[in-house]
Amino acid sequence: MQNTRKEVYYKSYLALDKILDAQHLESEALGQPAHDEMLFIVIHQAYELWFKQVLFELNSVQKIFDTEQINDNGPDLQIAVHRMKRVATILQVLVHQIDILETMTPLDFLDFRDMLRPASGFQSYQFKMVEALMGLKFENRHELNYYVSHLHKEELDAVREVEQKRTLLELVNHWLERMPFFDERYWNNYKRLHALTDSLHVFWNDYRTIYEESLAKEEEGNLIQFDALFLAPHKADQKSLSVKANGSALFIMLYRDYPMLQLPYQLINTLLDIDELMAMWRYRHLNMVHRMIGARVGTGGSSGKDYLRGAMDKHYVYKEFADLTSFLIERRKLPDLSDELKRALGYTMH
Ligand code: HEM
Repeated sequence: MQNTRKEVYYKSYLALDKILDAQHLESEALGQPAHDEMLFIVIHQAYELWFKQVLFELNSVQKIFDTEQINDNGPDLQIAVHRMKRVATILQVLVHQIDILETMTPLDFLDFRDMLRPASGFQSYQFKMVEALMGLKFENRHELNYYVSHLHKEELDAVREVEQKRTLLELVNHWLERMPFFDERYWNNYKRLHALTDSLHVFWNDYRTIYEESLAKEEEGNLIQFDALFLAPHKADQKSLSVKANGSALFIMLYRDYPMLQLPYQLINTLLDIDELMAMWRYRHLNMVHRMIGARVGTGGSSGKDYLRGAMDKHYVYKEFADLTSFLIERRKLPDLSDELKRALGYTMH
């Protein structure tokens, strides 16, 4: 049978006609060519392409988690972790891309800056979608209405649609909630270390005592937070992670050396990497902006660097995982798990 498949050709496969014909300098159109505007356009386009890839990965991970029961014994979790690590690697590159833009000096930028008003990074709807998909809620955004008022309706609708879906933070919370670590069947043969004081689960009874003993005098207030995070009947308002999810996440962090907990641990750790890298990008962008335009307002009409600093401080999405590290104890003091639980957390072949 003759092969009728069309030959793939590099230029057409990559749609280079479109991509390489997509740099239209405003300064040239206005008859005052500014050399650095080409760099400015290319770098923004490169960012947007990478945002597209990040969204592609995050959407696929959202799909994996958006089931009642993710299959821990299949490839799903491994795929999710792998893709989240890819997102983190892309973000590392995005942080470094600022180095290239910083080869443009403030004076070079002034050659065309005013020609761009009122275009602004605010209008990067893909960036807003990345934030929303990760789990940044509209009501938790810094100076809420800035980006809403700068987007065209279609783009705003696209961001809104993502905001309506279950975010990765919510899905991971749900996944943690159904971890069976504290099921009775794993604790019948556990050798408790401390007398049971009230109706606490035997693990939390021991762990709380060990944690309390580890606190310095000035840290005594930590116990109140400990109780609110791990033992309260309901999660506190303003929190994204439930009491059950906090317990599972802490358990994963503590016992992460057991084979079954390695991937869950990597997932939590990668979420923290992503949060940190987004903050690093914001920090680099903010400093570049300060250096480039000083204290002038942004082309999008915000206060410029002050707005960006506010967003940087407020837009950590996975900070509650980072907060949990206040409640770790030294490895050597960890309660020894029952044989049943150790078996369940190990690799077993039958
Ligand atoms: C000369 C270089 C740049 C300057 C002076 C600059 C300046 C600013 C300013 C002042 C803002 C605040 C909004 C406003 O009032 O306009 C902003 C926001 C933003 N910029 Fe830039 N920017 C530059 C390069 C970039 C690049 C290369 C990207 C890559 C995509 C980018 C992405 C963004 C994003 C996503 C926001 C919104 C951030 C948020 O709402 O948290 N900017 N930029």
